[in-house]
Formats: sequence, C-alpha cells, structure tokens
Amino acid sequence: MHQMIHITPIHLPAAPAPTEEPARQYFYIRAAREYIRQLSAQKGEPLTFHVATFGCQMNAKDSEKLTGILEEAGYQKSDSENADFVLYNTCTVRENANNKVYGRLGYLNGFQKKNPFMMIGLCGCMMQEPAVVDKIRQSYRFVNLIFGTHNIYKFAELLYTALENTFGRDGDKNGSSMTVDIWQDTDKIVEDLPVERKYTFKSGVNIMFGCNNFCSYCIVPYVRGRERSRKPGDILQEIKTLAADGVKEVMLLGQNVNSYGKNLEEPCTFAQLLRDVADIDGIERIRFMTSHPKDLSDELIAVMAQSEKICRHLHLPLQSGSTRLLKIMNRRYTKEQYLHLVEKMRAAIPDIAITTDIIVGFPGETEEDFNETMDVVCRVGFDSAFTFLYSKRTGTPAAAMENQVPEETVKARFDRLLYKVQEIAAKKAMRYEGTVQKVLIEHVNERDESLVTGRLDNNSIVHLPGNAGMIGTIADVYLKECKGFYYIGEAR
Ligand code: SAH
Ligand code: SF4
Ligand code: F3S
Repeated sequence: MHQMIHITPIHLPAAPAPTEEPARQYFYIRAAREYIRQLSAQKGEPLTFHVATFGCQMNAKDSEKLTGILEEAGYQKSDSENADFVLYNTCTVRENANNKVYGRLGYLNGFQKKNPFMMIGLCGCMMQEPAVVDKIRQSYRFVNLIFGTHNIYKFAELLYTALENTFGRDGDKNGSSMTVDIWQDTDKIVEDLPVERKYTFKSGVNIMFGCNNFCSYCIVPYVRGRERSRKPGDILQEIKTLAADGVKEVMLLGQNVNSYGKNLEEPCTFAQLLRDVADIDGIERIRFMTSHPKDLSDELIAVMAQSEKICRHLHLPLQSGSTRLLKIMNRRYTKEQYLHLVEKMRAAIPDIAITTDIIVGFPGETEEDFNETMDVVCRVGFDSAFTFLYSKRTGTPAAAMENQVPEETVKARFDRLLYKVQEIAAKKAMRYEGTVQKVLIEHVNERDESLVTGRLDNNSIVHLPGNAGMIGTIADVYLKECKGFYYIGEAR
C-alpha cells in the first residue's frame, strides 16, 4: 500500500551534547522524547514500541536496558509487533537462532508499509557479524537502525540519530536512511543508565561482559568481545538499590562468572563477590550463570555451602564427556576433572541440583566419544540438561575442521541423548515429591488462573492453587505430585 500519511520533517535545534557518560545519553533521551512527542502529535496517538529478545539471559538483560531507555524517551510498550518501533535483539550462537530473524523481518515490513511512523531496529550478537550486516543492507533496506553489542550503552544517541535520519528529511524514508553503527570491541562499561524492572521481586545483574575462552565451536567471544568485569562496588550498589526496592532474588550474569574480577585494578574473586552479595539485607536468593568447569574454585564451593541464600543449583556446562573432544573444543578440563568437580560439589552440598549444556555432533565426534558423553550423563545424573545439535559458526576454528559429522548420525545420537537426559531428570525430580520446600511465587499461571507458578531454590517449577497477591512472596509449599518437569503443590 502506498503511504497515505505525509510526515512533516522534524528538525530540533542543535544543542551541543555533553561528552561525558552517562550525561550524554541522558541528553539524547531528552532530545528523543521531544522528537517522539512531535511525532505522536502528528500521528494523533502515542507511539508504541516492541522489543523482541532472542538468545540468552545476557540478551534478556540487555533488552531490559533498551526498554528502560525507550520508556524514558516516551514510547509506550506494546505486546504486538505492529508497533511504531520494533527492535529485535538478536542471537547468533546457533544457525537456527539466526534464520528466525530473517523470516520475521519480511513480516515486519508488511506492518511498516501501512504505518509511516514505524521504525525497525536490529541489535545484538548477530549484528557483530559483518556478513549479516551486508545482507541486511542489501536485501532488507527497510531496516532503520542497526547497532551491535559493544555500543548498546549509547542506544539513546543511536535512537535519536535514527529518528532524525528517518523522519528529519523529506521524501522516501525507507531504504535511504539506514543508521548503522557497529564497533569491533570495547573496554567501556557505562553505569547508571535507565533500565526496565521487568519483575518486582527478581532481577538479573550483569557482573561481567564478553568472554575470553574461545571454545572452538563458539561464536560468543567474537560477537561479545573481550572479558571485562564491573567493579564490585557498582554491582553491590545496584543490588542494594534493588533490595531496597523489594527484589528478593538476583541472578548474577556473565559468560563465565568463575573468572570474574581477573581484569580489575583491585582484584576480587567471584566467591568474594558472592559473599558480599549474600550480606545484603533483603536479598534472599542468589543465582548465577554460567560457571565454566575449568575455573570453579574450592573457595566458591565453600561459599556456596556456607550461605543459606545461594541457591542449591549449579549450571555446569559439560559440552562433551570425551576428554579427546574436550581438548579439541578448547574447554581445558578432562572427563575425570569434570566428574571430580561434581563429586566435590555434592560432598559439600549434598542436595545440589546440577544442570548442564551438551553439544552433539562436534566435528570428528566418534561413537566412542559420544558414549563417553552418555557415560558422564549417567554417572552425574543431571537434574536437567540442554542438548544442542552442533551448529557450524563461520569464523570459529571448528567450522574449518574437515571431519564434520553426517547429519543423520548427529540426529540419531541426539535422540538417544535426549531420551536418557529426560529419563534421568524425571527420576531425579521424584526425590522432592512429598516434601515441603520454599517456593518463590513468580506469576499467575497462563492456562489456569486459579493457579500460581513459582520456583524452588533448585530452579524446579511448581504450580499451586493461589492468586496474584502471592506474587513475589516465598511460600512453604508441599510438593504433592511430581509430573516429570514440574510439580503440583499446595501452600502450607
Ligand atoms: N558461556 C556459556 C555458554 C554460552 S552459549 C558456557 O560456556 O557455558 C550456551 C550454550 O550453547 C553452550 O553451553 C553450548 O552448549 C551451546 N553452543 C555454543 N556454541 C554452539 C554451537 N556452535 N553449536 C551448538 N551449540 C552451541
Ligand atoms: Fe562460548 Fe566457551 Fe565463552 Fe561459553 S565459555 S561463551 S561456550 S567461548
Ligand atoms: Fe546468543 Fe549472544 Fe547470548 S550469541 S547466546 S545472545 S551472548
């Protein structure tokens, strides 16, 4: 459909922006707010936005930051992708994460053709791949804004620039006005920017960014840059503010939290940080994600065992049970070391839930290698495991390996593994049936409004009769029945 509405170009008087952060971003939030106010006046209704998140908790946290800024700038949040600004925060860890985005972009373009006030933005890990940005520039020219993971802190500035490039000129806005800003890396951490509080009672907290591990299959170090830690003081201050605001559970986030603090001027270990977080009044549960087995210290195990507040849950990605493959994966631990770590963990915290990530079909994986993985799965008895088909990521060392495993072989192994993982997880979950556990109530059940849904400290899900008034409270719940992946409970 041809655009029926003509947007009068808006030109705001140019005032010099401060050079210091975060003052500069607050300046651009105000400028964007004025811009959006004028656009809303032309449209005759408030402008809306929608942020869609792909990928991991780190991306989810980034989306809360993006949302915080969009709300400050005066856009109203919408559940629909038929909004005036749609931003996809993308993931590229596996090929299928990537493909979803292209599919959905075509669909967004349909909305944009009918809404001249609509901007489309792309950010996140996928945008750090030059080939992706080239493809979008060529084949998806209707996209208005592209930025990456390293300059997300300057989103307010980028938003304002995109608004000007899109609406500040006459003529065809589509195609001619794409705003693109991608950085190769950064050592910058900007504190104190706006952030959405998605839940009143829990929050993710970044403790570090990037990854230095270069596991040979993984693209994350290329798209998230070098590892850098936030200062302990900044992290603790953020958590104190959250606690004062009613937050009971924090999830400390990093690609490899066990190496936290290595690049700080005044070094601080992850275990020390955890101890300090546990001292904050009002915080009742502490989770963290993700632990790399190579860096998990005895000090950490001791702190976890001592503190009531640290959840009895450890996500410890295995990737493969074959020492031979682990070496080629550049994981820097052996099968035996992994098993030993699990033993030490269980000796200190007998009831701990251990979960993992496993990749099937890494180049050169033989039947023996795969059987080693199955062996670890049986011996550890994971409470749950995310299983992934190996996905070839251009630019990683594994992608260039010649001995890629045929698809049918990978698929058959994957099915065997999944069956085993689920069988064990269901058996493991049975051990809590008939016990009373503390449950943090998170939300009203989507399917049945007479139920609420919450989590045990080991991260298992429980549904129980209740109401919205219980959200954010920690209840004693009798676990009446185990249904494999969740429990049916009753408040005590
Ligand atoms: N930093 C975390 C993991 C981040 S990515 C860690 O080291 O544990 C999450 C998971 O995706 C990884 O644990 C791995 O199992 C999986 N993954 C990463 N790259 C992959 C690839 N190329 N193919 C399949 N799975 C992959
Ligand atoms: Fe990827 Fe390995 Fe870094 Fe995890 S530790 S993000 S798997 S490179
Ligand atoms: Fe994906 Fe980036 Fe996370 S690639 S898994 S969103 S760090």
